[in-house]
Amino acid sequence: MFIKKLHINIITFFCVSILNVSCSDITTKDEIDMKVEQLVKMMTLEEKVGQMTQVDHRYLEKKSDIKKYFLGSLLSGGGSVPDTNNVRSWVRMYNEYQSFALETRLKIPIIYGIDAVHGHNNVLNATIFPHNIGLGCSNDEDLVRRISAATAREVQATGLDWTFAPCVAVAQDERWGRTYESFSEDPDIVTRLGNASIQGYQGSSLDQPNTILACAKHYVGDGNTIYGTGMHGKIDRGDVLLDEKELRSKYIKPFKEAIDNNVGSIMVSYNSWQSKKLHGHKYLIDEVLKKELKFNGFVVSDWAAIDEIDKNYKKSIIQAVNAGIDMVMVPGQFIESANSYIDFIELLKESIQDGSIKMDRIDDAVSRILNIKYSMGLFEKPLKKFNKVNDLGSDKNRAIARESVKKSVVLLKNNNILPIRKNTRNILVAGEHADNIGYQCGGWSIWWQGGSGKITKGTSILDGIKSHTGKNINLSYSKSGDVDKNTDLIIVAIGEKPYAEMNGDRESLELSEDDIELVNKLSKSGKPIVMILISGRPMILEPILDKCDAILAAWLPGSEGAGISDVLFGDYSPTAKLSFTWPKNMKQIPINFGDTNYDPLYRFGHGLTFKD
Ligand code: BGC
Ligand code: BGC
Repeated sequence: MFIKKLHINIITFFCVSILNVSCSDITTKDEIDMKVEQLVKMMTLEEKVGQMTQVDHRYLEKKSDIKKYFLGSLLSGGGSVPDTNNVRSWVRMYNEYQSFALETRLKIPIIYGIDAVHGHNNVLNATIFPHNIGLGCSNDEDLVRRISAATAREVQATGLDWTFAPCVAVAQDERWGRTYESFSEDPDIVTRLGNASIQGYQGSSLDQPNTILACAKHYVGDGNTIYGTGMHGKIDRGDVLLDEKELRSKYIKPFKEAIDNNVGSIMVSYNSWQSKKLHGHKYLIDEVLKKELKFNGFVVSDWAAIDEIDKNYKKSIIQAVNAGIDMVMVPGQFIESANSYIDFIELLKESIQDGSIKMDRIDDAVSRILNIKYSMGLFEKPLKKFNKVNDLGSDKNRAIARESVKKSVVLLKNNNILPIRKNTRNILVAGEHADNIGYQCGGWSIWWQGGSGKITKGTSILDGIKSHTGKNINLSYSKSGDVDKNTDLIIVAIGEKPYAEMNGDRESLELSEDDIELVNKLSKSGKPIVMILISGRPMILEPILDKCDAILAAWLPGSEGAGISDVLFGDYSPTAKLSFTWPKNMKQIPINFGDTNYDPLYRFGHGLTFKD
């Protein structure tokens, strides 16, 4: 025993010395492969299993478990922040965790992932960009590339390495709570913008200074589940019934191109394909993604998603890893009934020891993870500095966000009322959504489900309007819509309140009674009304359509509400076009371009400009 231990230590000393030679000259792919091979040979079973385990930092029982269990990765799920949510605390937190990893025998650094899905949205005072649905309407690859590059800088400012984005879902049914995470109902738009996004995050190569690792998600069929087959009898995490040909042409396509664009990681979807959970789907993960499409990065599971494969956790682990999942987002005991990472680690070890999972599969998983860590230069620079902190929420990035807002606002209807005329004297702004940064940011903003009010730094729609109105305009705000007789123009903002994932699944997309009542009340004044809709998807406009002289779909614009007033006041003539079909009523849903009897309220591609 002692001799064996001594032997390992001598080898370790020798090899770690080799592996730690400056990585600057280890840049070619072959050299990295060689390093990975050597390292994997040195690793014990425990070290390999740890490398495949990802824990949410909130659920670490002890910080030193990173060292004890050789954890390969940590994540911050929605709202999983350091004790003080500011940029410096993030860097300190990262370094503290990383230091535990560096105390292990082989000093393999952790990789830290987060949902920076519309900017670095968990971090207080970061720039929050529009959700993907708005960017899909801008249909502007250059813009999306710049947004992702700006987000990469903000993620780096906090020390983190990896974003779980872009989401390349192709949403077909707006009742789905994740519709806003999808660029479009059209796979071509999704594919192009998904690629632009990957290029923005990862740059030309992962070892470049301002890049982070991207993660195309969720593989595969995301956005095509049938209403009624999902969680709580709704749609999220449901079943996709497409045949293989359609699955390939619409849903595998964005992943194929993401792979051609060198995406470094891919996250598996909670959904099933023809009643079989994707997380245990060997054909789609191992055969198609890895062998056929030659994906060389690593596959990560979704949040506790392997638990849904089988009631028996060990069986779930065996099926998931054998299907080709390389890293498991365990992520810890977020509710009492959830599995702990300690159980996961024990059961994965047991499954390897009893032959249920072959060592080749484990070595493949670990090699893929290490390969990315080497490519990113993590071994060379595992600890982060504070030298990028000023990039968080910088003016430069806020300017890109404001630009992206004005480019994603779709002018649905305009009875010659916009842009606001220069001689307008009295403007009334109404509606709770007009002055609520939380509402305009939507889900995945500071908290998983988003929030209400001044949740972070930004400008509300009202703030934006204020910045445009000089001395000549009297501006008043009445949440509840009390109209003064001198009012010349009413701007009312209504819409959805924030939600994420299954919490946004809705059987009906009718406007709330309060919103309808508010517009009716305003309409009684006989004054012209501009309506701004804040929502994660098209909603049924029928009850108020004729009461509004102009309608703008502003989606979930994020922290820079002033981009909306740039359009209202004519500084920017709208260019955005619907990347989703807008239904007339609930009976039409799901409705998508190309359907037979296609007769929506607004067609896919609709969007007015001021020249129309
Ligand atoms: C979501 C993913 C997300 C992960 C980590 C899951 O519930 O489906 O999109 O990346 O949580 O927060
Ligand atoms: C986390 C999210 C995650 C979700 C999944 C939440 O507690 O914060 O990131 O996506 O759980 O259920």
